[in-house]
Amino acid sequence: AQAPAAGCGSATQPERVAVWPNAPGTMRLESIRYSPGSLQILNQLQLPEHCSYEALGSVQQASEAIRAMKVRGAPAIALVGCLSLAVELRAGAGGPGLASLVAFVQNQLRLLVAARPTAVNMARAARDLARVAAREAERKGATEETVRERVICFAEDMLEKDLKDNRNIGDLGARHLLEHTNPRGGKVTVLTHCNTGALATAGYGTALGVIRSLHEMGRLEHTFCTETRPYNQGARLTAFELVYEQIPATLITDSMAAAAMAHQGVSAVVVGADRVVANGDTANKIGTYQLAIVAKHHGIPFYVAAPSSSCDLQLETGREIVIEERPSQELTDLNGVRIAAQGIRVWNPAFDVTPHELITGGIITELGVFAPEELRAALSASVFSEGQ
Ligand code: MRU
Repeated sequence: AQAPAAGCGSATQPERVAVWPNAPGTMRLESIRYSPGSLQILNQLQLPEHCSYEALGSVQQASEAIRAMKVRGAPAIALVGCLSLAVELRAGAGGPGLASLVAFVQNQLRLLVAARPTAVNMARAARDLARVAAREAERKGATEETVRERVICFAEDMLEKDLKDNRNIGDLGARHLLEHTNPRGGKVTVLTHCNTGALATAGYGTALGVIRSLHEMGRLEHTFCTETRPYNQGARLTAFELVYEQIPATLITDSMAAAAMAHQGVSAVVVGADRVVANGDTANKIGTYQLAIVAKHHGIPFYVAAPSSSCDLQLETGREIVIEERPSQELTDLNGVRIAAQGIRVWNPAFDVTPHELITGGIITELGVFAPEELRAALSASVFSEGQ
């Protein structure tokens, strides 16, 4: 296999490296580089050809990058959004005066939430951050400095938490999947959709984290990753991560998924989520729903892997989820070249909703693996429920 573009690892080296490192997989792929006062994102529009990092100095720049999908994936969107606010606040934005600082924070968060509506992570983080700012401002002795500091700390802690949650998701998901598909030992083959890896999160990934964990355990036979039309997150990003990490994998088009399940020994399907609602219905990348139907037909367990920050107990069913529609050019053009007939109408929903009854394997969170009907009770009993 051809090595993907070099230079995306976290080793201290120039951001663009002409030569593929000797030992691919030894460096961690990073979609977000943050240090206090500085935020950079890997421009995912240019992958896999180029690895170039772009500095984001403001919430405005971050929301433009999110809308343009330079950074994407539910957890990464929230992280970049909140960290861009941290960068602005460190530079002294907002105020003067406590009330005007809190209003500034709330306005900036509204801008970020509006960038992409389906994933709940940014909306949840915005609600939490707005509350943190307001509470601190009401505290006796609060100053602009303490309000800024509280918001910045909250945003910075999110990075570490997401990475930790992903590792737990990987571990819990891998163990559950092995127990339920291959209890007598041996290896498993997993089919996944879209990109849910290091590029979509603070690192490691959710569904791709489960695949990484299986690989680390020596229990992964093979991965099938779907191309994920129209934006091709599978072909461009997941395939990139799998090759980079030397995880055995094959790329298929979305329309090959049924054939793969019929003929390629797929043990389980594991996908991510943009929003899991109270009854377990799950919004994820367009095409997920059809994978769940096909998996059910073949008796193959279908798992959703997502941190609890992707769960939304305020919505009862998937019918309430707002589905983002993307520009028609994503379908009609490839790399700027028109491939569709002129004049054709286009429908381009970025996500679909998989009904909970099709999620037969379970919902893998950092808190445990739950059947969809158990999710509400399980999350309500945890720290997750604070403020729900
Ligand atoms: O449009 P995208 O690329 O942001 O969609 C991404 C997905 O649908 C992912 O499956 C989801 O966000 C989970 S990422 C851990």
